[in-house]
Amino acid sequence: MKISVIGCGYVGLVSAACFADAGHDVTCIDNDAEKLNMLKENQVPIFEPGLQELISKNKSLEFSLNISEDIASSKIIMIAVGTPSLDSGEADLTQLYRCVEEISHFISSGTLVIIKSTVPVGTCDEVEKLINDKSEHNDFEVISNPEFLREGNAIHDFVNPDRIVIGLNDESNKESIIELYSNIVSEDKLLFTSRRSSELIKYASNSMLAMRIIFINEIADLCEKIGADVSDVAKGIGLDKRIGPYFLEAGPGFGGSCFPKDIKALIETGKNFDSPQTLLESVIVGNEKRKKNISKKILDLLDIKKENNVGILGVTFKAETDDMREAPSLTVIPDLIKAGLNISVYDPEGQNEASKLITDVEWKKSAYEVADNSNCLVILTDWQEFKEIDLKKLYDSMQRPLIYDFRNIYDPDIMKELGFEYFSVGRG
Ligand SMILES: NC(=O)c1ccc[n+]([C@@H]2O[C@H](COP(=O)([O-])OP(=O)(O)OC[C@H]3O[C@@H](n4cnc5c(N)ncnc54)[C@H](O)[C@@H]3O)[C@@H](O)[C@H]2O)c1
Repeated sequence: MKISVIGCGYVGLVSAACFADAGHDVTCIDNDAEKLNMLKENQVPIFEPGLQELISKNKSLEFSLNISEDIASSKIIMIAVGTPSLDSGEADLTQLYRCVEEISHFISSGTLVIIKSTVPVGTCDEVEKLINDKSEHNDFEVISNPEFLREGNAIHDFVNPDRIVIGLNDESNKESIIELYSNIVSEDKLLFTSRRSSELIKYASNSMLAMRIIFINEIADLCEKIGADVSDVAKGIGLDKRIGPYFLEAGPGFGGSCFPKDIKALIETGKNFDSPQTLLESVIVGNEKRKKNISKKILDLLDIKKENNVGILGVTFKAETDDMREAPSLTVIPDLIKAGLNISVYDPEGQNEASKLITDVEWKKSAYEVADNSNCLVILTDWQEFKEIDLKKLYDSMQRPLIYDFRNIYDPDIMKELGFEYFSVGRG
């Protein structure tokens, strides 16, 4: 099947590579010339485990800078451009509509325009109207097919999805969708719904996951006050099959390119349709409060006149990605700098992206370099590398062996035995 994927970001690149690997004839298009040049030289512009290898292996996957009439021969045009937040919280659909405008000149008879980007309810209807106004064909279909992959695990998630949600109007196009995914998943993984339900499923899923994170974080705060252990509490809750164990890890609050923006967008959709999403409003407030509170917790432990060297381990919004969007570090580090601390930072993959956003810090090449002479180490991202660290070596090099671990990656008893002053989240 000939497919054009528009957008060479986390979702577009992974989708294009996986569809090519499944035997389709795929062109991935992006209007960012720098990204495109890198891709043409077989360099992947983002960090995503396994993606470089998958792209290199699939020689049939092509890259193109422009949306041109070449896409007219594609059965499927898949749009995976960004849909960030406007200041109002609503989704900014500028990239999407610009892209739709461009492709509408090249729609052929029977083209399926698949919206992979996360878009508010009703967007597919709008896209259909826009194309109808421009195109000479009216036998195309706009289909909603939101993506659920997680950065850092994206390829695995794309080829092993829990479900693939497809919102369409014309039942006769189901066969093409089945063919699109046939070498990736069995047919029973495909959930066909209306377009509006499909659009809402994506937002509601992310909101549910974020709600769980905020919930367990607030329970963790309570654990700290009453002397309970949030790991045990989460385990005990998660063993109930009605609840399940996932997304019950206490931490520094959620970030990333999806949760904050998608929840805000769903709140706005609720307002637009006079159906307030009050629970989600408190999720956003709770998460912001949490990120702000991290620096206070650190400062409370330090005598900053004498102890002002703080090392940060991990700045990306989570491990195994270089994505910095809405990362807790973007709140914490400026707050610590403002308080007068000297900050040194190490992240296994995040420095390139992070150094565009975080200034006035010293970048180091390893966790040990960060620890050297520091009065406090703060763990913000749970990279595997940090879990395998030589803690004795760390202890020996620190000026004050104080660690605030916002990801609960170490065992408090072992840390105590080693002599650390060890603080973590919700574990007494
Ligand atoms: N990143 C994730 O983990 C994730 C997961 C699920 C869903 N999503 C959703 O998928 C969508 C894409 O997310 P992303 O993280 O891949 O975004 P991204 O910002 O990494 O990539 C988007 C790409 O689209 C390109 N682009 C924008 N307008 C274009 C145009 N007119 N022509 C060609 N290229 C254009 C940009 O240059 C950019 O490279 C968003 O709606 C997001 O909410 C993201």
